[in-house]
Amino acid sequence: MNVLDSELVATSLTNAGFEQVASHRQADVILFNTCSVRQHAEDKIYSAIGRLKDVKKYHPNKIVGVIGCMAQKDQTLIFKRAPHVDLVVGSGQLGLLTTLINRATAGECELLEVGLDRKSNSLLSVQRSFAPYNPERGPDVKRGSHQSMVRIMYGCDKFCTYCIVPSVRGPEQSRSIDEIEAEVRQLANLALDDGVCLEVTLLGQTVNSYKCKLGNRTYRLSDLLYRLEEVNGLDRLKFVSNYPRHMTTDLLEAVRDLSKVSSYLHVPAQSGSNHMLKLMKRNYTVEEYRDMLAKVREIVPNAAVTSDFIVGFCGETEEDFHETVDLVREERFKNSFIFKYSARIGTQAAEKFEDSVPYDVKQSRNNELLAIQNAITEEDNKKFVGRIVEILVSGPSKMSVKREEDGPIVQLTGRTICDRIAVFEDDRKWIGRIIPVKIWSATALTLFGKRVE
Ligand code: 5AD
Ligand code: SF4
Repeated sequence: MNVLDSELVATSLTNAGFEQVASHRQADVILFNTCSVRQHAEDKIYSAIGRLKDVKKYHPNKIVGVIGCMAQKDQTLIFKRAPHVDLVVGSGQLGLLTTLINRATAGECELLEVGLDRKSNSLLSVQRSFAPYNPERGPDVKRGSHQSMVRIMYGCDKFCTYCIVPSVRGPEQSRSIDEIEAEVRQLANLALDDGVCLEVTLLGQTVNSYKCKLGNRTYRLSDLLYRLEEVNGLDRLKFVSNYPRHMTTDLLEAVRDLSKVSSYLHVPAQSGSNHMLKLMKRNYTVEEYRDMLAKVREIVPNAAVTSDFIVGFCGETEEDFHETVDLVREERFKNSFIFKYSARIGTQAAEKFEDSVPYDVKQSRNNELLAIQNAITEEDNKKFVGRIVEILVSGPSKMSVKREEDGPIVQLTGRTICDRIAVFEDDRKWIGRIIPVKIWSATALTLFGKRVE
Protein backbone atom coordinates (compact mmCIF):
# COMPACT_ATOMS: atom_id res chain seq x y z
CA MET A 1 0.00 0.00 0.00
CA ASN A 2 2.79 2.41 0.94
CA VAL A 3 4.87 1.57 -2.11
CA LEU A 4 1.84 2.33 -4.25
CA ASP A 5 1.21 5.63 -2.42
CA SER A 6 4.85 6.67 -2.92
CA GLU A 7 4.56 5.85 -6.60
CA LEU A 8 1.31 7.81 -6.96
CA VAL A 9 2.77 10.81 -5.11
CA ALA A 10 5.89 10.69 -7.32
CA THR A 11 3.75 10.58 -10.46
CA SER A 12 1.45 13.41 -9.41
CA LEU A 13 4.31 15.65 -8.29
CA THR A 14 6.05 14.98 -11.61
CA ASN A 15 2.86 15.96 -13.41
CA ALA A 16 2.77 19.16 -11.32
CA GLY A 17 6.24 20.10 -12.62
CA PHE A 18 8.50 18.61 -9.95
CA GLU A 19 11.44 16.46 -10.88
CA GLN A 20 13.02 13.56 -8.99
CA VAL A 21 16.65 13.90 -7.94
CA ALA A 22 19.20 11.32 -6.89
CA SER A 23 19.96 12.62 -3.40
CA HIS A 24 18.36 14.74 -0.68
CA ARG A 25 21.29 17.16 -1.09
CA GLN A 26 19.89 18.28 -4.44
CA ALA A 27 16.26 18.26 -3.32
CA ASP A 28 14.04 21.26 -2.59
CA VAL A 29 11.38 19.00 -1.09
CA ILE A 30 12.03 15.83 0.94
CA LEU A 31 9.06 13.60 1.76
CA PHE A 32 9.06 10.56 4.04
CA ASN A 33 6.24 8.14 3.34
CA THR A 34 5.80 6.25 6.57
CA CYS A 35 4.57 2.98 8.06
CA SER A 36 3.34 2.58 11.62
CA VAL A 37 2.47 -1.11 11.71
CA ARG A 38 5.40 -1.87 14.04
CA GLN A 39 7.57 0.29 16.32
CA HIS A 40 10.71 -0.60 14.38
CA ALA A 41 9.37 1.08 11.22
CA GLU A 42 8.65 4.27 13.17
CA ASP A 43 12.05 4.30 14.88
CA LYS A 44 13.77 4.09 11.52
CA ILE A 45 11.74 7.02 10.17
CA TYR A 46 12.33 9.23 13.21
CA SER A 47 16.07 8.68 13.00
CA ALA A 48 16.07 9.39 9.24
CA ILE A 49 14.11 12.61 9.88
CA GLY A 50 16.53 13.48 12.71
CA ARG A 51 19.47 13.25 10.33
CA LEU A 52 17.97 16.13 8.34
CA LYS A 53 18.02 18.56 11.25
CA ASP A 54 21.35 20.11 10.33
CA VAL A 55 20.55 20.07 6.64
CA LYS A 56 17.47 22.17 7.37
CA LYS A 57 19.53 24.50 9.61
CA TYR A 58 21.87 25.36 6.73
CA HIS A 59 19.18 25.18 4.02
CA PRO A 60 16.04 26.57 5.67
CA ASN A 61 14.21 26.74 2.34
CA LYS A 62 14.18 22.98 1.90
CA ILE A 63 10.73 21.58 2.66
CA VAL A 64 10.59 18.45 4.84
CA GLY A 65 7.34 16.51 4.90
CA VAL A 66 6.10 13.38 6.68
CA ILE A 67 3.25 11.61 4.90
CA GLY A 68 1.25 8.41 5.32
CA CYS A 69 0.37 6.24 8.30
CA MET A 70 2.77 7.64 10.89
CA ALA A 71 1.69 11.17 9.96
CA GLN A 72 -1.91 10.12 10.67
CA LYS A 73 -0.95 8.39 13.92
CA ASP A 74 1.47 10.92 15.48
CA GLN A 75 0.11 14.16 13.98
CA THR A 76 1.48 17.22 15.93
CA LEU A 77 3.81 14.97 17.94
CA ILE A 78 5.98 14.89 14.81
CA PHE A 79 6.48 18.70 14.98
CA LYS A 80 7.38 18.34 18.67
CA ARG A 81 9.90 15.55 18.09
CA ALA A 82 11.25 17.09 14.87
CA PRO A 83 10.64 20.87 14.74
CA HIS A 84 12.37 21.06 11.33
CA VAL A 85 9.41 19.23 9.72
CA ASP A 86 7.17 21.55 7.66
CA LEU A 87 4.33 19.21 6.63
CA VAL A 88 2.46 16.32 8.20
CA VAL A 89 -0.02 14.74 5.78
CA GLY A 90 -2.11 11.59 6.32
CA SER A 91 -2.76 8.99 3.63
CA GLY A 92 -6.29 10.37 3.10
CA GLN A 93 -4.94 13.86 2.35
CA LEU A 94 -2.30 13.01 -0.24
CA GLY A 95 -4.40 14.74 -2.89
CA LEU A 96 -3.60 18.07 -1.16
CA LEU A 97 0.13 17.53 -1.19
CA THR A 98 1.06 19.78 -4.13
CA THR A 99 -0.90 22.69 -2.67
CA LEU A 100 0.59 22.12 0.78
CA ILE A 101 4.13 22.04 -0.62
CA ASN A 102 3.44 25.34 -2.38
CA ARG A 103 2.09 26.86 0.85
CA ALA A 104 5.15 25.69 2.78
CA THR A 105 7.41 27.11 0.06
CA ALA A 106 5.60 30.43 0.49
CA GLY A 107 6.61 30.42 4.16
CA GLU A 108 3.77 28.74 6.11
CA CYS A 109 5.02 26.35 8.77
CA GLU A 110 3.73 23.31 10.63
CA LEU A 111 1.08 22.44 8.07
CA LEU A 112 -1.05 19.54 9.31
CA GLU A 113 -3.67 17.69 7.24
CA VAL A 114 -4.94 14.37 8.58
CA GLY A 115 -8.08 12.23 8.66
CA LEU A 116 -10.68 12.46 11.45
CA ASP A 117 -10.52 10.26 14.54
CA ARG A 118 -12.76 7.20 13.96
CA LYS A 119 -14.01 7.08 17.54
CA SER A 120 -15.39 10.60 17.85
CA ASN A 121 -16.88 11.41 14.41
CA SER A 122 -19.69 10.16 12.19
CA LEU A 123 -18.86 7.37 9.73
CA LEU A 124 -19.62 9.56 6.71
CA SER A 125 -17.34 12.39 7.81
CA VAL A 126 -14.56 9.96 8.70
CA GLN A 127 -14.95 8.23 5.32
CA ARG A 128 -14.66 11.59 3.57
CA SER A 129 -11.58 12.49 5.57
CA PHE A 130 -9.87 9.32 4.33
CA ALA A 131 -10.56 10.48 0.81
CA PRO A 132 -9.73 8.10 -2.00
CA TYR A 133 -6.47 9.08 -3.64
CA ASN A 134 -6.43 8.13 -7.32
CA PRO A 135 -4.28 10.53 -9.27
CA GLU A 136 -3.59 9.80 -12.90
CA ARG A 137 -1.45 6.72 -13.45
CA GLY A 138 1.85 6.56 -15.28
CA PRO A 139 4.46 3.82 -15.59
CA ASP A 140 5.81 2.79 -12.20
CA VAL A 141 8.85 5.00 -11.55
CA LYS A 142 10.90 2.05 -10.36
CA ARG A 143 9.65 -0.93 -12.37
CA GLY A 144 8.47 0.62 -15.62
CA SER A 145 5.18 -0.27 -17.22
CA HIS A 146 5.26 -4.08 -16.78
CA GLN A 147 4.37 -4.34 -13.08
CA SER A 148 1.74 -2.22 -11.40
CA MET A 149 -0.34 -2.15 -8.27
CA VAL A 150 -3.95 -1.06 -8.32
CA ARG A 151 -5.82 -0.30 -5.11
CA ILE A 152 -9.32 -1.71 -5.09
CA MET A 153 -10.26 -0.73 -1.58
CA TYR A 154 -9.19 1.61 1.21
CA GLY A 155 -8.97 1.10 4.93
CA CYS A 156 -10.08 -1.74 7.17
CA ASP A 157 -13.02 -2.45 9.48
CA LYS A 158 -11.73 -5.62 11.12
CA PHE A 159 -10.03 -4.05 14.16
CA CYS A 160 -7.77 -6.98 15.01
CA THR A 161 -6.69 -6.03 18.50
CA TYR A 162 -2.96 -5.66 17.72
CA CYS A 163 -3.38 -3.61 14.54
CA ILE A 164 -3.10 0.13 13.98
CA VAL A 165 -4.25 0.01 10.35
CA PRO A 166 -7.99 0.70 10.92
CA SER A 167 -7.10 3.95 12.73
CA VAL A 168 -4.45 5.16 10.29
CA ARG A 169 -6.02 4.02 7.02
CA GLY A 170 -9.62 4.69 8.00
CA PRO A 171 -12.87 2.84 7.28
CA GLU A 172 -13.18 0.18 4.62
CA GLN A 173 -14.24 1.72 1.30
CA SER A 174 -14.32 -0.18 -1.99
CA ARG A 175 -13.66 1.59 -5.27
CA SER A 176 -16.10 1.32 -8.12
CA ILE A 177 -15.59 -1.67 -10.40
CA ASP A 178 -15.80 0.59 -13.49
CA GLU A 179 -13.11 2.91 -12.16
CA ILE A 180 -10.78 -0.02 -11.39
CA GLU A 181 -11.34 -1.53 -14.82
CA ALA A 182 -10.60 1.83 -16.47
CA GLU A 183 -7.36 2.15 -14.50
CA VAL A 184 -6.22 -1.36 -15.43
CA ARG A 185 -7.05 -0.67 -19.10
CA GLN A 186 -4.98 2.51 -18.96
CA LEU A 187 -2.00 0.60 -17.50
CA ALA A 188 -2.47 -2.17 -20.08
CA ASN A 189 -2.37 0.39 -22.91
CA LEU A 190 0.86 1.83 -21.52
CA ALA A 191 2.37 -1.67 -21.45
CA LEU A 192 1.15 -2.38 -25.00
CA ASP A 193 2.71 0.89 -26.21
CA ASP A 194 6.00 -0.15 -24.62
CA GLY A 195 5.75 -3.69 -26.02
CA VAL A 196 5.96 -5.32 -22.59
CA CYS A 197 3.79 -7.76 -20.64
CA LEU A 198 1.78 -6.48 -17.70
CA GLU A 199 1.25 -7.91 -14.24
CA VAL A 200 -1.23 -6.13 -11.99
CA THR A 201 -1.48 -6.70 -8.24
CA LEU A 202 -4.82 -5.65 -6.79
CA LEU A 203 -4.45 -4.24 -3.30
CA GLY A 204 -6.68 -4.09 -0.29
CA GLN A 205 -6.12 -4.59 3.43
CA THR A 206 -8.75 -7.34 3.19
CA VAL A 207 -8.89 -7.54 -0.58
CA ASN A 208 -11.37 -10.40 -0.69
CA SER A 209 -14.03 -8.41 1.16
CA TYR A 210 -14.22 -6.10 -1.89
CA LYS A 211 -17.83 -5.09 -2.45
CA CYS A 212 -19.13 -2.52 -4.92
CA LYS A 213 -22.82 -1.73 -5.18
CA LEU A 214 -23.94 -0.30 -8.52
CA GLY A 215 -27.71 0.03 -9.05
CA ASN A 216 -29.19 -3.17 -7.66
CA ARG A 217 -26.09 -5.31 -8.28
CA THR A 218 -23.27 -6.02 -5.88
CA TYR A 219 -19.92 -6.83 -7.43
CA ARG A 220 -17.41 -8.87 -5.47
CA LEU A 221 -13.75 -9.65 -6.07
CA SER A 222 -14.60 -12.65 -8.28
CA ASP A 223 -16.72 -10.37 -10.54
CA LEU A 224 -13.82 -7.96 -10.79
CA LEU A 225 -11.43 -10.79 -11.74
CA TYR A 226 -13.79 -11.93 -14.53
CA ARG A 227 -13.91 -8.37 -15.88
CA LEU A 228 -10.16 -7.87 -15.77
CA GLU A 229 -9.47 -11.24 -17.45
CA GLU A 230 -10.86 -9.60 -20.61
CA VAL A 231 -8.44 -6.66 -20.59
CA ASN A 232 -6.24 -6.76 -23.66
CA GLY A 233 -2.58 -6.24 -22.75
CA LEU A 234 -2.96 -7.58 -19.20
CA ASP A 235 -1.09 -10.86 -18.70
CA ARG A 236 -1.05 -11.63 -14.98
CA LEU A 237 -3.32 -10.71 -12.12
CA LYS A 238 -2.73 -11.17 -8.38
CA PHE A 239 -4.49 -9.86 -5.30
CA VAL A 240 -3.32 -9.28 -1.70
CA SER A 241 -4.07 -9.59 1.26
CA ASN A 242 -6.91 -11.99 1.94
CA TYR A 243 -8.93 -12.28 5.11
CA PRO A 244 -9.38 -16.00 5.94
CA ARG A 245 -13.12 -15.79 6.59
CA HIS A 246 -13.83 -14.29 3.18
CA MET A 247 -12.15 -16.99 1.11
CA THR A 248 -15.38 -17.79 -0.71
CA THR A 249 -16.06 -20.54 -3.23
CA ASP A 250 -16.86 -18.09 -6.06
CA LEU A 251 -13.46 -16.44 -5.56
CA LEU A 252 -11.56 -19.73 -5.54
CA GLU A 253 -13.42 -20.90 -8.64
CA ALA A 254 -12.47 -17.66 -10.40
CA VAL A 255 -8.81 -18.29 -9.47
CA ARG A 256 -9.11 -21.81 -10.85
CA ASP A 257 -10.92 -20.87 -14.06
CA LEU A 258 -9.29 -17.61 -15.14
CA SER A 259 -6.04 -18.02 -17.03
CA LYS A 260 -4.54 -14.67 -16.10
CA VAL A 261 -5.21 -14.96 -12.37
CA SER A 262 -2.27 -16.26 -10.39
CA SER A 263 -2.97 -19.14 -8.02
CA TYR A 264 -0.86 -17.36 -5.42
CA LEU A 265 -2.94 -16.66 -2.31
CA HIS A 266 -1.69 -14.67 0.65
CA VAL A 267 -4.03 -15.51 3.55
CA PRO A 268 -2.52 -14.42 6.89
CA ALA A 269 -3.28 -16.83 9.76
CA GLN A 270 -1.42 -14.76 12.44
CA SER A 271 -1.36 -17.66 14.94
CA GLY A 272 -2.08 -21.37 15.26
CA SER A 273 -3.46 -21.02 18.79
CA ASN A 274 -7.17 -20.51 19.38
CA HIS A 275 -6.40 -18.67 22.58
CA MET A 276 -4.24 -16.14 20.69
CA LEU A 277 -6.67 -15.90 17.75
CA LYS A 278 -9.41 -15.00 20.19
CA LEU A 279 -7.33 -12.33 21.92
CA MET A 280 -6.35 -11.00 18.51
CA LYS A 281 -10.05 -10.88 17.57
CA ARG A 282 -9.42 -12.60 14.26
CA ASN A 283 -12.93 -14.11 14.18
CA TYR A 284 -11.90 -17.66 13.28
CA THR A 285 -10.51 -20.71 15.03
CA VAL A 286 -7.48 -22.58 13.81
CA GLU A 287 -9.81 -25.45 12.81
CA GLU A 288 -11.80 -23.03 10.62
CA TYR A 289 -8.57 -21.72 9.12
CA ARG A 290 -7.45 -25.28 8.30
CA ASP A 291 -10.88 -26.03 6.75
CA MET A 292 -10.48 -22.92 4.62
CA LEU A 293 -7.07 -24.21 3.44
CA ALA A 294 -8.56 -27.61 2.66
CA LYS A 295 -11.19 -25.88 0.50
CA VAL A 296 -8.48 -23.84 -1.25
CA ARG A 297 -6.55 -27.03 -2.06
CA GLU A 298 -9.65 -28.85 -3.23
CA ILE A 299 -10.70 -26.10 -5.64
CA VAL A 300 -7.24 -24.82 -6.63
CA PRO A 301 -4.94 -27.83 -6.18
CA ASN A 302 -1.81 -26.03 -7.38
CA ALA A 303 -2.35 -22.96 -5.15
CA ALA A 304 0.72 -21.44 -3.48
CA VAL A 305 -0.51 -20.22 -0.12
CA THR A 306 1.46 -17.78 2.02
CA SER A 307 0.78 -16.44 5.48
CA ASP A 308 1.74 -13.86 8.10
CA PHE A 309 2.39 -14.78 11.74
CA ILE A 310 2.83 -12.67 14.84
CA VAL A 311 4.96 -14.28 17.54
CA GLY A 312 5.06 -13.17 21.17
CA PHE A 313 1.56 -11.68 21.25
CA CYS A 314 0.24 -10.81 24.73
CA GLY A 315 0.43 -13.86 27.01
CA GLU A 316 1.61 -16.27 24.28
CA THR A 317 2.83 -19.43 26.04
CA GLU A 318 5.25 -22.06 24.73
CA GLU A 319 2.20 -24.21 24.08
CA ASP A 320 0.46 -21.47 22.06
CA PHE A 321 3.65 -20.98 20.08
CA HIS A 322 3.96 -24.70 19.38
CA GLU A 323 0.43 -24.72 17.98
CA THR A 324 1.66 -22.12 15.47
CA VAL A 325 4.69 -24.31 14.71
CA ASP A 326 2.34 -27.27 14.09
CA LEU A 327 0.22 -25.20 11.72
CA VAL A 328 3.28 -24.13 9.72
CA ARG A 329 4.72 -27.68 9.63
CA GLU A 330 1.45 -29.32 8.62
CA GLU A 331 0.09 -26.82 6.15
CA ARG A 332 3.43 -26.25 4.37
CA PHE A 333 2.94 -22.63 3.35
CA LYS A 334 4.86 -21.52 0.31
CA ASN A 335 6.26 -18.78 2.46
CA SER A 336 5.49 -17.03 5.76
CA PHE A 337 6.18 -13.50 6.92
CA ILE A 338 6.92 -13.61 10.64
CA PHE A 339 6.74 -10.60 12.94
CA LYS A 340 7.50 -10.03 16.59
CA TYR A 341 4.51 -8.48 18.31
CA SER A 342 4.93 -4.73 18.69
CA ALA A 343 2.44 -2.93 20.94
CA ARG A 344 0.83 0.01 19.14
CA ILE A 345 -0.63 2.81 21.23
CA GLY A 346 -4.31 3.25 20.43
CA THR A 347 -4.99 -0.42 19.67
CA GLN A 348 -7.18 -2.58 21.88
CA ALA A 349 -4.32 -4.95 22.70
CA ALA A 350 -2.09 -2.10 23.90
CA GLU A 351 -4.91 -0.76 26.05
CA LYS A 352 -6.24 -4.01 27.51
CA PHE A 353 -3.50 -6.66 27.54
CA GLU A 354 -0.01 -6.78 28.90
CA ASP A 355 2.81 -7.08 26.37
CA SER A 356 4.14 -9.88 28.55
CA VAL A 357 6.48 -11.88 26.33
CA PRO A 358 10.09 -10.70 26.77
CA TYR A 359 11.87 -9.42 23.67
CA ASP A 360 14.45 -12.23 23.60
CA VAL A 361 11.66 -14.85 23.73
CA LYS A 362 9.90 -13.10 20.81
CA GLN A 363 13.21 -13.11 18.96
CA SER A 364 13.92 -16.80 19.54
CA ARG A 365 10.36 -17.79 18.56
CA ASN A 366 10.72 -15.67 15.44
CA ASN A 367 14.00 -17.42 14.55
CA GLU A 368 12.61 -20.88 15.25
CA LEU A 369 9.49 -20.39 13.15
CA LEU A 370 11.47 -18.81 10.33
CA ALA A 371 13.93 -21.73 10.27
CA ILE A 372 11.03 -24.22 10.04
CA GLN A 373 9.35 -22.25 7.27
CA ASN A 374 12.62 -21.81 5.36
CA ALA A 375 13.30 -25.55 5.44
CA ILE A 376 9.82 -26.19 3.99
CA THR A 377 10.26 -23.49 1.34
CA GLU A 378 13.64 -24.90 0.35
CA GLU A 379 12.29 -28.46 0.08
CA ASP A 380 9.38 -27.27 -2.06
CA ASN A 381 11.60 -25.05 -4.21
CA LYS A 382 13.91 -28.01 -4.91
CA LYS A 383 10.98 -29.78 -6.55
CA PHE A 384 11.29 -27.20 -9.34
CA VAL A 385 14.79 -28.34 -10.30
CA GLY A 386 14.69 -29.69 -13.85
CA ARG A 387 11.34 -28.02 -14.58
CA ILE A 388 10.61 -25.19 -16.99
CA VAL A 389 8.75 -22.23 -15.47
CA GLU A 390 7.36 -19.06 -17.03
CA ILE A 391 9.10 -16.02 -15.56
CA LEU A 392 7.93 -12.44 -15.81
CA VAL A 393 11.29 -10.67 -15.91
CA SER A 394 11.22 -7.65 -13.64
CA GLY A 395 14.80 -6.34 -14.07
CA PRO A 396 18.45 -6.80 -13.08
CA SER A 397 18.82 -8.75 -9.82
CA LYS A 398 20.06 -7.07 -6.64
CA MET A 399 23.36 -8.86 -7.20
CA SER A 400 23.90 -7.34 -10.62
CA VAL A 401 22.94 -3.89 -9.34
CA LYS A 402 25.51 -4.36 -6.53
CA ARG A 403 28.18 -5.54 -8.97
CA GLU A 404 27.30 -2.50 -11.13
CA GLU A 405 27.05 -4.75 -14.18
CA ASP A 406 26.29 -2.48 -17.10
CA GLY A 407 26.66 -4.59 -20.26
CA PRO A 408 23.68 -6.17 -22.04
CA ILE A 409 24.15 -9.53 -20.25
CA VAL A 410 23.31 -9.29 -16.55
CA GLN A 411 21.78 -11.41 -13.84
CA LEU A 412 18.05 -10.91 -14.30
CA THR A 413 15.31 -11.59 -11.79
CA GLY A 414 11.62 -12.28 -12.09
CA ARG A 415 8.75 -14.28 -10.68
CA THR A 416 6.81 -17.39 -11.58
CA ILE A 417 3.02 -17.15 -11.76
CA CYS A 418 2.96 -18.47 -8.17
CA ASP A 419 5.29 -15.70 -7.01
CA ARG A 420 8.53 -17.67 -6.67
CA ILE A 421 11.65 -15.61 -7.33
CA ALA A 422 13.97 -16.85 -10.09
CA VAL A 423 17.31 -15.50 -11.34
CA PHE A 424 19.24 -16.24 -14.53
CA GLU A 425 21.92 -14.59 -16.65
CA ASP A 426 20.69 -13.15 -19.91
CA ASP A 427 20.15 -10.12 -22.07
CA ARG A 428 18.41 -7.05 -20.62
CA LYS A 429 16.09 -7.14 -23.62
CA TRP A 430 13.97 -9.73 -21.77
CA ILE A 431 12.97 -7.25 -19.05
CA GLY A 432 9.18 -6.94 -19.06
CA ARG A 433 8.65 -10.23 -20.96
CA ILE A 434 7.32 -13.57 -19.83
CA ILE A 435 9.85 -16.23 -20.85
CA PRO A 436 10.47 -19.95 -20.17
CA VAL A 437 13.35 -20.65 -17.80
CA LYS A 438 14.67 -24.11 -16.90
CA ILE A 439 15.56 -24.39 -13.21
CA TRP A 440 18.86 -26.06 -12.33
CA SER A 441 19.19 -25.22 -8.63
CA ALA A 442 17.10 -23.86 -5.74
CA THR A 443 17.44 -22.38 -2.26
CA ALA A 444 14.73 -21.20 0.15
CA LEU A 445 14.78 -17.74 -1.39
CA THR A 446 15.60 -18.27 -5.04
CA LEU A 447 15.28 -20.56 -8.06
CA PHE A 448 18.34 -20.46 -10.36
CA GLY A 449 17.79 -21.15 -14.02
CA LYS A 450 18.60 -20.63 -17.68
CA ARG A 451 16.34 -19.39 -20.45
CA VAL A 452 15.16 -22.01 -22.91
CA GLU A 453 13.87 -21.45 -26.43
N1 5AD B 1 2.95 -6.22 15.74
C1 5AD B 1 3.54 -7.12 14.93
N2 5AD B 1 3.08 -7.43 13.71
C2 5AD B 1 1.97 -6.79 13.27
N3 5AD B 1 1.27 -6.91 12.14
C3 5AD B 1 0.24 -6.03 12.20
N4 5AD B 1 0.23 -5.36 13.36
C4 5AD B 1 1.30 -5.83 14.07
C5 5AD B 1 1.83 -5.55 15.34
N5 5AD B 1 1.27 -4.67 16.16
C6 5AD B 1 1.61 -7.85 11.08
C7 5AD B 1 0.48 -8.81 10.77
C8 5AD B 1 -0.01 -8.32 9.44
C9 5AD B 1 1.26 -7.79 8.82
C10 5AD B 1 1.08 -6.85 7.69
O1 5AD B 1 1.89 -7.13 9.90
O2 5AD B 1 1.01 -10.11 10.66
O3 5AD B 1 -0.61 -9.33 8.67
FE1 SF4 C 1 -5.02 -5.04 10.52
FE2 SF4 C 1 -5.37 -6.85 8.55
FE3 SF4 C 1 -6.69 -7.08 10.92
FE4 SF4 C 1 -7.33 -5.13 9.18
S1 SF4 C 1 -7.55 -7.37 8.86
S2 SF4 C 1 -7.10 -4.91 11.40
S3 SF4 C 1 -5.31 -4.60 8.33
S4 SF4 C 1 -4.45 -7.22 10.56
